[in-house]
Parts: sequence; structure tokens; C-alpha cells
Amino acid sequence: MSLALVFDDFGTPDVLHLGQVPTPQPGPGQVRIAVRSASVNPVDWKIRSGASRGFPGLSLPHVTGLDASGVIDAIGADVRGWAVGDEIFGQTVTGAAAEHALLENFARKPAGMSWDTSAALPSAVETGLRAIDVLGVGPDDVLVVNGVAGGVGLAAAQFALARGARVLGTASQQRHDSLAALGIESVTYGEGLSERLLALSPSISRALDAAGNGILPELVELVGGDSSHVVTVADHRAAESGVVFTAGQERRYWEAFDRAVELWSDGRFQMPIAQVFPVADGAAAHAASESGHVFGKIVIRVTGGVVQPDRS
Ligand SMILES: NC(=O)c1ccc[n+]([C@@H]2O[C@H](COP(=O)([O-])OP(=O)(O)OC[C@H]3O[C@@H](n4cnc5c(N)ncnc54)[C@H](OP(=O)(O)O)[C@@H]3O)[C@@H](O)[C@H]2O)c1
Repeated sequence: MSLALVFDDFGTPDVLHLGQVPTPQPGPGQVRIAVRSASVNPVDWKIRSGASRGFPGLSLPHVTGLDASGVIDAIGADVRGWAVGDEIFGQTVTGAAAEHALLENFARKPAGMSWDTSAALPSAVETGLRAIDVLGVGPDDVLVVNGVAGGVGLAAAQFALARGARVLGTASQQRHDSLAALGIESVTYGEGLSERLLALSPSISRALDAAGNGILPELVELVGGDSSHVVTVADHRAAESGVVFTAGQERRYWEAFDRAVELWSDGRFQMPIAQVFPVADGAAAHAASESGHVFGKIVIRVTGGVVQPDRS
């Protein structure tokens, strides 16, 4: 058996608790890691609250979390090129905030990248790259990212900058200096948004909505009325505005992981860590993410395959 951060019933963050689960055994195409860090994505608390009960394969009790980093400690059949002891990050299939997790989609962690940063990448970089690919962002584009300070927004923005696009983003005022350091020009969201964006650039060619706060009609107008130049990952009313909602039917993890690592190695990609919580404080980690105002990612630390309530 292994320790894991689980919930037995849907509800508020305090349904999360440390519990014993059967240690997962890797099947064909899977590796098992001793988890070092796990990151929190909004889908984690949407699953925990019961809002996303339709999530594929969901059953109770449930080990929370999708994204993790750690050290391979067991390898399934048909896995070539990997060895026990390899340091990797990726999306788990058994839950991330646990002593052990199984992965099918993963990449090698660069030696100089922290466990926390690598755990912060998987869903954000996959979604961010997918979204700008759906938009067809290229070097001549001026892209607006609504919700640029979140994990998905930051990833999409930095991938777009690396393609040579100009990136404008919406974020609260306190983020603007940090975003500028990444090459992202930002304005505050809320009333008067279009005027503020157009003051930065009178021509805007593409828009990505990563906040889901109901401004798709405004974004369509900003790109000149062509709804095919707007994509959302967060607004389920997309169809009302003729906008594509990309939900990841064709996820390309390997490409996104490789690209993020490549850019990170060149000093052109960062994923800020807003806060780190010990796994015993998993409820606080979920509550922090659920606030909706995280700069980058929230991380849950699960060190060395042994669950340690330790903030160091
Ligand atoms: N469709 C998919 O495949 C897919 C995949 C992954 C995620 N998602 C969804 O995409 C959304 C973003 O995910 P994430 O991981 O980036 O979330 P996140 O990291 O929790 O994003 C939080 C960010 O949203 C910003 N924000 C809050 N209210 C805003 C507003 N009214 N206007 C603009 N920005 C606002 C905050 O900025 P401030 O702190 O500056 O307020 C904060 O930085 C979530 O709804 C998530 O469920 C979808």
C-alpha cells in the first residue's frame, strides 16, 4: 500500500485527506514514479467538488492531481529507452499527489530544472501549445491571451512569443511587471478592456481565452469579427459566439513537453510557482488554486516517495 492525497466523497477542499491506496503496478506502456512534486490544475478541484463528475475513469475514492514529477521506480512491458532511476515529469493516470503514480505521457526532467517546476508543466504546456496551434499563431500575429497569468495562459503566451508573435495579455495590475519580464504586454481585465488593448495595438489578429469569464463576443470583435480567430479553453458557451472550445481530444504531450524543455533550456520559458504546500496541506493547496488568482502554478510537494509534511 502507498500513501496518497484522496477524497472519498465530492465536496469542499476539506474532503481531501491522506489515505492508504494499493501501490499501482505499471502495465504495458507505463512507468511508475516515486513522486517528488505534483501541481494543482483547476480540473483537480472541479473533479473534487463534483462539478466534473463526468471526468473519464473517475471513481471514488479518488487520488487527486494529474501532473507530477519524480523518479522511475518500476517499468511496465513495452517501455523502451527508460530505466529505474530516470527523472521524469508528465501526466499521471493514477493521481499525482501520491507516493507512487503511473504515467504514460512523460518526458525527461532536465538536470537543472526543479521537481516543482517540472511538475508544474504538463497540462499547462499541452493545453497552451494546442490552443495556439488551433489558432495557427505565427510570427505576424498579435495575440491576446485572456487570463495570461494562469498556467495555460503563461504557456500559450511564451510559445507564441517563441514563434515571433507579439503577445498582449489580461491580468491583475500586480502581475504586469512580472509579465513584462517575460515579454508579455498586459492590461487589467474588466470594463474598458477593449480600449486598453487597442491602445497597445490597434490591430489584433488572434485571441485565446484561458479565463472563461464570458468575454468571447468582445474578443471576436477585437480580432475584426472573425470567430475562427478566437479559441477558448475555459468558456463552455463558446458555440454561442461561433468560437472553438478546444478540449484536448488530440493531445500531443510529447511535442509540448519537448518544446517547453527546449525553450526553458534556452532561457525562453518559465513557469512561476506561486506557492508550495506539503502534501498534508493538500486542502489548502486546492483552496489556493480555487481562488482563481494564482500567478503560475500551485505545487504540492511529495518528497522522495515518502509523504513528508515538510515545507522545506
Ligand atoms: N480545455 C482544456 O483542455 C483545458 C486544459 C487545461 C485547463 N483548462 C481550463 O482553462 C482555465 C485556465 O486554466 P489554468 O490552469 O491556466 O488556471 P489558473 O492557473 O488557475 O488561472 C488563474 C489565472 O486566471 C486569471 N484570472 C482570474 N480571473 C480573471 C479574469 N476575469 N480575466 C482574466 N484573467 C483572470 C488570474 O489572474 P490574476 O491572478 O491576475 O487575477 C490567474 O492568474 C481553467 O478554467 C481550466 O479549467 C482547460
